Amino acid sequence: MKTIIEPFRIKSVEPIRMSTHDERVVCLKEAHYNLFAIPSQDVMIDLLTDSGTGAMSSEQWAAIMRGDESYAGAPSWFRFRDVMVDITGIENVLPTHQGRASERLLVEVMIGHGNAGIGKIVPNNAHFDTTRANIEHSGCTTIDLLTPEGQDPSTDAPFKGNMDLGALEALLSERADDVPFVMVTVTCNSIGGQPVSLENIKGVRAICDRFNKPFFLDACRFAENAWFIKQREAGQGDRPVEDIAREMFDLCDGATISAKKDGIVNIGGVLLFRDKTLFDATSNLLILTEGYMTYGGLAGRDLDAMAVGFREVLREDYLRYRIRSTEYLGEKLLEAGIEIVRPAGGHAIYIDAAAFCPHIPSHEFPGQALACALYEEGGIRSCEIGSVMMGEHAHMELVRLAIPRRTYTQSHIDYVIEIILEVHKRASSLVGYRITEGPEALRHFTAKFEPIKQAAPTC
Ligand code: F0G
Repeated sequence: MKTIIEPFRIKSVEPIRMSTHDERVVCLKEAHYNLFAIPSQDVMIDLLTDSGTGAMSSEQWAAIMRGDESYAGAPSWFRFRDVMVDITGIENVLPTHQGRASERLLVEVMIGHGNAGIGKIVPNNAHFDTTRANIEHSGCTTIDLLTPEGQDPSTDAPFKGNMDLGALEALLSERADDVPFVMVTVTCNSIGGQPVSLENIKGVRAICDRFNKPFFLDACRFAENAWFIKQREAGQGDRPVEDIAREMFDLCDGATISAKKDGIVNIGGVLLFRDKTLFDATSNLLILTEGYMTYGGLAGRDLDAMAVGFREVLREDYLRYRIRSTEYLGEKLLEAGIEIVRPAGGHAIYIDAAAFCPHIPSHEFPGQALACALYEEGGIRSCEIGSVMMGEHAHMELVRLAIPRRTYTQSHIDYVIEIILEVHKRASSLVGYRITEGPEALRHFTAKFEPIKQAAPTC
């Protein structure tokens, strides 16, 4: 069969408010051209993020009702912990309210309080923005060690998320004392949801062993990464995806996870440590801000929803549909001659905005221009991942169309394709933007923009 169907029926629906073009023009202006500032009621297809926006299953809703509330040691906690230990093999589990809380705690325990990070450096294949911001908040610097092919949107390679092992080795040879830990993000969100191969994770492990460095995974999309390994890596095709995921975790000393991605929940996170001493130290820090270590800022019901979600995400019929539906969107855009990061990522398609609007230079934010145009044209909310979000760390000028899990149907995606093609026809009329107000760090969330008026044509 060529058509891979959604392996679920829809049981509950949320109406979409259909807006008009004129309404959206006003909305966008009122939001100072920052799509984060648009109320989601005014968005028709929301592809801003795949984080916390997925549809929970009937089993997850049933688990929500089963969830029990207790400060310490609720049955919900034990159900959640057992699932996490079973999937990852890592015994020391902390729940957190979301991924960045796990990151903040990891930084505090591995680097220290205040400005303890000054003079230190943390490598990653490519840091996600909150990971980078949490690490840099300690005064530490960050470095992305992607391979050259990972930085080239137009090449098709199976594991563009791989870390450049030579570069990691060189960094550690030169500055081993300054590196508190090494991180790898699976899949690698910042460069297109691209996977990391098992071989590469093994390579990172071997280098970390040689230099005696702890190795943590940012495992937000570990199941999607494991599926890509099964599909693309030699010798992995016959293994159950759970085994591959388990091997990924076996290779690391711990992990930060946002359960809002591959946990398929609306809120939740996880922090894992193999080392009991680090776990104990972090448990005390967790109590300061998140809550007791058996609930980590969540309600018991949230832990139960995660326990079910982390199992469902590893079902192969789910992963086959998930990765295919993202690939479908990418395929149609490529057929229409629109450049995207190739090959299609796991959770999102990333349009190459620099190729879409070649007339808009990076400092006028081509990604922002395209994202605003998609909203105006069709009520689609996407996300700039380029010079607005990453500043001087930007590898490319991208617009991400993140696909919430189990949420939109194929006709929603067909509509998205039509709108993108419509905007593509008039791409040369799009104008760049300038930032009129914005904070130093994480500016994409709150910055205000204005379109740069085109100069009148001179004759
Ligand atoms: N790491 C990665 C790779 C992520 O993609 C995210 C979140 C986080 C960490 C932080 O997790 O949001 O639960 O605190 N990414 C979302 C996104 C926000 O839209 O890509 P969080």
